[in-house]
Amino acid sequence: MLSSVPKQGKGDTAPTEETELTVNTTNRVGKSIEWIDIGVEGLQDFIPGLPKGDAILVRGEPGTGKTILCLQFLHKGVEQGEKCVYVTTEETPDTIARTGEILWSDFPTLVREEKIVIVNLSITTMYADKYSLVLDKDAVVETIREGLDRQPDASRVVIDSLSSLQRRLDDPSDFREVFMSLLLEGKKRGATVVMTAEGIPVNPDITEYLVDHLIYLDYHKHDVIWTRVFVLRKSRSVPVHPQILKLNIEKEGLSVEEIPISLKPVWFASKLR
Ligand SMILES: Nc1ncnc2c1ncn2[C@@H]1O[C@H](COP(=O)(O)OP(=O)(O)O)[C@@H](O)[C@H]1O
Ligand SMILES: [Mg+2]
Repeated sequence: MLSSVPKQGKGDTAPTEETELTVNTTNRVGKSIEWIDIGVEGLQDFIPGLPKGDAILVRGEPGTGKTILCLQFLHKGVEQGEKCVYVTTEETPDTIARTGEILWSDFPTLVREEKIVIVNLSITTMYADKYSLVLDKDAVVETIREGLDRQPDASRVVIDSLSSLQRRLDDPSDFREVFMSLLLEGKKRGATVVMTAEGIPVNPDITEYLVDHLIYLDYHKHDVIWTRVFVLRKSRSVPVHPQILKLNIEKEGLSVEEIPISLKPVWFASKLR
């Protein structure tokens, strides 16, 4: 839901000292910001949303939930009457639709009705015939622009993933140019853009510095327990506390909650505030 009023803490229980602090902080700032719900269930208990029109980069190892986050972001948009574009550089449109359908039965209809337009830059035979496996930077930007033109009112755009684009562009400077063009294109159109990339790098690169928000999805093992975590690593204009949340992937997609005390391992403690 688009809203200018930040949501309050979980449930209707009397606010604790902590929830009151959170609410006061979020009320003080961002009155003029149009906050959007990116669709991750429970996130609204910790932040007022993310500013509409911003660029968000989601990073993580394979299987950490990047693609599901993208699908959920768009599904939430459509639920609110928005138009969306999904640029896939890795999975085929078929597997995107298949994963979407498992999570939400209406997903294929949304694609059929072009509420979600899928732009195919995956390595399918058809695409490879047309452009070859090594991508040409101008062709990439042009194909994405054409896709965006098919959905001129798109307010939510996904590019999943940048890493696959990077691998298939010959020259690192080509990738930087494509990335900058996509960033500017999103800003020009006023669309909120979610991009994904593989892994959590030791040394951040240009993509991490230039986006407005950086989300890390991670998977930690403690004794025999694996815990998924959601980290709002960087978030311009957003009061965020805590930055690290427990992530769940379930039937309805991603949800977050505070990390239970029982799961706060010693080696991780310094990061948990
Ligand atoms: N319906 C579901 N219920 C629970 N877990 C799921 C469901 N669908 C997918 N998953 C899990 O979510 C993981 C994340 O998938 P995905 O978003 O494709 O990861 P990534 O894009 O980061 O590689 C999958 O590897 C799988 O373990
Ligand atoms: Mg993926």
